[in-house]
Amino acid sequence: MRVFYFTGTGNSLQVARAIGEGGELVSIPLFLREHQIEIGVAIKELASSMAPADAATAIRTNGDTMTGKRIIIKDDAVGLVFPTYYWEVPAIVVEFLEKVKIESDYFFVLTTRGVASVTLKSNLRQIARRNGHCLSYYSQISMPDNFLPLCNMTNQKKRFTASVLAQSIGLRVTDVRARKSNVRGPTAPGFLVSAGSSIIRAFTGGTKPASESFLVDANCTGCGICAKACSAQSIKIVEDMPVFSSTCNDCLACVHLCTTGALHMRKEKTSERYLNPTIKKDDIIEAHSPQRLPVR
Ligand SMILES: Cc1cc2nc3c(=O)[nH]c(=O)nc-3n(C[C@H](O)[C@H](O)[C@H](O)COP(=O)(O)O)c2cc1C
Ligand code: SF4
Ligand code: SF4
Repeated sequence: MRVFYFTGTGNSLQVARAIGEGGELVSIPLFLREHQIEIGVAIKELASSMAPADAATAIRTNGDTMTGKRIIIKDDAVGLVFPTYYWEVPAIVVEFLEKVKIESDYFFVLTTRGVASVTLKSNLRQIARRNGHCLSYYSQISMPDNFLPLCNMTNQKKRFTASVLAQSIGLRVTDVRARKSNVRGPTAPGFLVSAGSSIIRAFTGGTKPASESFLVDANCTGCGICAKACSAQSIKIVEDMPVFSSTCNDCLACVHLCTTGALHMRKEKTSERYLNPTIKKDDIIEAHSPQRLPVR
């Protein structure tokens, strides 16, 4: 079994670990970056056999289109675990589903979510159908909500005891081990989901690029943990301060893992932060760190 996961504060990693026990766990941001490097190498090789003008055009061309290949993922069971963002599948997971071809008799998806409950069933089915994936099982798990513009972390931590979480994760583990075919939950109409998503984004500042969403206060020590934890590799430390580029996966690892609480969302409710209690900061850094990629 291979389980691909995306996480910001560890909830989805807790689920991926439980479900993928004995199998291989793969971080989606690292997987996509490694694929980009492979494409870069392929383009360079192709370009080296061309006239300079053709090579320049080839390099400008999108790599995926050029190679025309999808990455084949073949296993007895393939799973995806990721958080709900703005009532939808996160953009990085959509990108993943567009780049891969899953060759497995059992393809399951588990999403974690917080207080703004909505099923991702129709959104997910649409994306899966568009990309030729056949979904065998889908379920969602309610966990502490890490979305600072809507939630108070103290309340979220109190709401979910370790045993409540273990129980709801355990039910899905049993389902997947038994290879249950079931796409759980009601289907919310697509138009309602996209309208809801736009409203949440508009009210919480979710339409702004990362560089405009965050504030750094005077407690910043320039330690660089936010940069290491960033799933998009979009933070650089310049003169002991984080500088954000416009790319962002919305994961909030930077804000929640900041060592001094110096990093804030403009619209956050409180300055309290969250990390899933079964997960360490280093686990998140490792899941996003390019140091784990092979050197080429
Ligand atoms: C940008 C963003 C948007 C979110 N949108 C939703 C949402 O629409 N509905 C919901 O129930 N939870 C939402 N959440 C909460 C997360 O889905 C939830 O806390 C999840 O378990 C976090 O997983 P992680 O710890 O693996 O990152 C959102 C979180 C973030 C950071
Ligand atoms: S983790 Fe916090 S203290 Fe460290 S560099 Fe980033 S913002 Fe500054
Ligand atoms: S800038 Fe922050 S929220 Fe955006 S991808 Fe990086 S760590 Fe996640």
